[in-house]
Amino acid sequence: MMSDMELPSRIDWVAAGCRLLAATAEEFRRTQPFAGLAIGTAIHLEPKTAALLMTLKAGGARLIATGNLNSTQPETVAWLGRQGIAVVGEQTTDASAHDRFLDAILAEQPDLLLDNGGDLFARVAERPYARLRGGTEETTSGRMRLAPLREKLKLPILVINDSPIKQFAENRHAVGQSLFESFMRFTNRSTNGKRVTVFGYGACGKGVAACFRNAFSVVSVVDIDPVTSLEAHLDGFATPLRETAIRNADVLITVTGAPGILYGADLPLLKDGVILFNGGHFPHEIDVAALETAAERIVRYEADGITTLHLRDGRTIHILAGGHMANLAGPRPLGNSIESMDLGFTLQARCLEMVAQGRAGRDQCVVPVPDEIDAAVAEAYLALHR
Ligand SMILES: NC(=O)c1ccc[n+]([C@@H]2O[C@H](COP(=O)([O-])OP(=O)(O)OC[C@H]3O[C@@H](n4cnc5c(N)ncnc54)[C@H](O)[C@@H]3O)[C@@H](O)[C@H]2O)c1
Repeated sequence: MMSDMELPSRIDWVAAGCRLLAATAEEFRRTQPFAGLAIGTAIHLEPKTAALLMTLKAGGARLIATGNLNSTQPETVAWLGRQGIAVVGEQTTDASAHDRFLDAILAEQPDLLLDNGGDLFARVAERPYARLRGGTEETTSGRMRLAPLREKLKLPILVINDSPIKQFAENRHAVGQSLFESFMRFTNRSTNGKRVTVFGYGACGKGVAACFRNAFSVVSVVDIDPVTSLEAHLDGFATPLRETAIRNADVLITVTGAPGILYGADLPLLKDGVILFNGGHFPHEIDVAALETAAERIVRYEADGITTLHLRDGRTIHILAGGHMANLAGPRPLGNSIESMDLGFTLQARCLEMVAQGRAGRDQCVVPVPDEIDAAVAEAYLALHR
């Protein structure tokens, strides 16, 4: 990817680590599964997605890309531009600006869509267009949003999140490591002996809870599902009632995918000096606006992505990344590990190939990755890494 004159960049480092995508791109250069097709994407624009977009381009696709709210990295956008990939929009936390970027992608009527959070397909449900063959959705949050729209969508949409590979490689192992790394990166605070409360004990929450426990924190878990709470209990985590878990937390992490996990009314419960941050896809898990409204004074460490609220009663509350997904925000955001994304994005490339070739039916609307793709990707990864 690098010309002789350019210094190697992080994007080159990441591309070199995405060995499975590199092998897939080599195959796609021969097979050209996307020849003559346009793919519209709305996914975090950062070095690992650049490797995915280059793989799709190698397969003959014309790409029209935009990011997700807040996570677009300007260096990646500039780099993609130099590779001839059209990027719409820029880094923003302004939801209405982001809406315009999404509309601009759909105005091009791409043949396939690669969605992350359901932003594109939710619009398609309202404004369908004939040439759309279907596509992929990356996340849990997107699946929750799109599943009720199946009747309107009636297109093959394969949900990458629901592959067991994505579940264990990315959500369980990588998100935990990455959110732990983000806590250290943002705050430079010790985790030893800290009382950490994790909201949500799904795939992501399991990894987060395990990583903080491994770093000598005292970890509590809150999950609305009693069966999942039982699992957390048997895994050795404290499972106090919600109010107690909030009162005790030195660090409070939300990773549920659901809105309104921590809200303004919880303010009296929060401990002096508590650090709040979110790993869920949307910035709606912690009601930052409501918490800020209650502050007497707000100090924003802009470059570090930390907001400190000084309350009238003398307590301080720290919020990382304004409640946006912390591992893709703040100083030098790295996101999940290269290997985990290499696996997840190869699932993306293979699912888009399947939809492009008409091998997925309209009844496969918001369904998991087909087993044969999981098996082929697992075998290919093991062959490269044994
Ligand atoms: N930060 C990242 O890099 C990254 C990567 C992958 C996924 N995600 C996001 O993380 C979120 C969680 O993903 P997941 O795969 O773990 O989902 P999941 O569905 O496996 O787990 C979510 C858990 O949260 C629980 N929950 C829901 N509402 C709750 C509430 N009000 N209080 C307490 N618990 C509640 C559910 O019972 C469930 O156990 C999603 O938004 C997903 O898109 C982030």
